[in-house]
Amino acid sequence: NNYVIIMAGGVGTRFWPFSRTSNPKQFHDVLGTGRTLLQQTADRFDGICPPENIYVVTSAEYRDLVKQQLPQLSYDQILLEPARRNTAPCIAYAAYKIAHKDPHANLVIAPADHIILKEEAFRADIQKALKATTETNKIVTLGIKPSRPDTGYGYIQFHPEDGEDVLKVKTFTEKPSLEYAKKFIESGDYVWNAGIFVWNAQTVTQNFLQYLPDIAEAFEDGKPFYFTTEESTYIDKAYSWCKSISIDVGIMEKADKAGDVYVVLSDFGWSDLGTWKSLYEVSDKDEHENVIDGSVMLYDTKNCIIKTPKDRLIAINGLDGFIVAEYDNVLLICRKDDEQKVKEFVNDAKNKG
Ligand code: GDD
Ligand code: MG
Repeated sequence: NNYVIIMAGGVGTRFWPFSRTSNPKQFHDVLGTGRTLLQQTADRFDGICPPENIYVVTSAEYRDLVKQQLPQLSYDQILLEPARRNTAPCIAYAAYKIAHKDPHANLVIAPADHIILKEEAFRADIQKALKATTETNKIVTLGIKPSRPDTGYGYIQFHPEDGEDVLKVKTFTEKPSLEYAKKFIESGDYVWNAGIFVWNAQTVTQNFLQYLPDIAEAFEDGKPFYFTTEESTYIDKAYSWCKSISIDVGIMEKADKAGDVYVVLSDFGWSDLGTWKSLYEVSDKDEHENVIDGSVMLYDTKNCIIKTPKDRLIAINGLDGFIVAEYDNVLLICRKDDEQKVKEFVNDAKNKG
């Protein structure tokens, strides 16, 4: 049986002020399609698994937001984390809970904040990965052809001679330095990790036992409590035992050496909407290469991304390559090339209350 685990507990700080701790980007209709990123994520698994097999892992504070946006899910399918511990504990919680119910489950683990333009191609690749993972110990990843030496992604080196469908992975490197990212891109046998993992429940638990035994133990011991009223009390404890670590660093960078990691080379119009620039890149532009969402009058302005409330008229003169974003009580004006500073602004803003 196929299950989908949607990771929806990130805060998306690099997308501030649009993404806020109180309402992170995955709960927004970023593209103006009428569906939020979380809803689009759930929608695209239509046909891969029935709605009752979709689980969302998120912070306890977003419980109602998730339920509002995905009313087809029962509260049992919304897994609440008492604290942010990055993706490894998030995946362990969901995988151990599902494995308890269905030891032969196949799991697709997916981020809630990505854009995928070619949904048919996406589903075809997921089916390939699911086929490869059924009854085997393979961890299957999806690899995207890289277009720039971005240091915000994981890099997967594959065996090109392996054919076309599911290739064996040589190395997995999470967020390399720029120097390495450039080398990887030049060599031609690296792809970006799309952050989507397909493996069966047994393989997940085996890998946690091997590489992150403390986390494995915390969730394994929860067995008597899953799907009972005592689950949340137990999970509070389990999270207090877990360190904060990503699945990429905690497992993927180690399992590659064991030869259990595979990749499906994919092309489905993927984008991790991590930053303003990434939204700029996937959006439609006007004749001056501006992306506009708001009521604006532009003069001598190009290469900008402008996202402001519709009921506020903004006049801009003489800007080139800027982000202008207003949301709630915050207005951000920042050079697009300096967008990595946004994280810093968020920290400083916290101190301003
Ligand atoms: N529930 C929960 N709890 N979800 C979380 C947590 C957490 O503590 N931390 C992150 N997430 C969710 C985020 O909301 C996002 O959907 C997903 O997990 C991945 O986390 P990111 O923080 O966005 O990771 P990343 O983008 O830096 O890196 C990952 O994705 C890249 C592709 O987008 C890695 O897997 C990279 O290797 C990969 O290239
Ligand atoms: Mg991300």
